[in-house]
Amino acid sequence: MRTLPRREFLALGACAVGCAALGGCASTMTLPVTSDDGRIRVRLDELEGLSGSDGFVRLSPGGAAAPIYLLTLSDGSHAALSPICTHLGCTVDVAGQRLVCPCHGSTYARDGTVLRGPAERPLRRYRVTEATNGELVIHLEEGA
Ligand code: FES
Repeated sequence: MRTLPRREFLALGACAVGCAALGGCASTMTLPVTSDDGRIRVRLDELEGLSGSDGFVRLSPGGAAAPIYLLTLSDGSHAALSPICTHLGCTVDVAGQRLVCPCHGSTYARDGTVLRGPAERPLRRYRVTEATNGELVIHLEEGA
């Protein structure tokens, strides 16, 4: 049996406490992706983390400064959001049905709309289309 060095043990403990406080993060996965002509294509059948109404996958586009959050909405459609808080630019966390900014508490719905300030503007949302071949296409140059 492998024993964890103290530093790893403390990091795991901090993660466990943080995840519990945020309502769980069991479905979170990060997927490296590439963009082609301003579009990111992902296969729905390869994104297990998107299943269910609290589905969430963090996409990591090569060369981009920030990830893109891909979330399942209550009607089964998907939203692709910038995780950059529109108040002062912190990165929001997904907490169940909401996205919460750890800096000043702004809270957003899963479609990016503001539920609670101080942020006044929604998260940037990219248009998402679903192709007949089971691909989701995220259009980086277009808003939803
Ligand atoms: Fe997000 Fe202030 S930066 S609430």
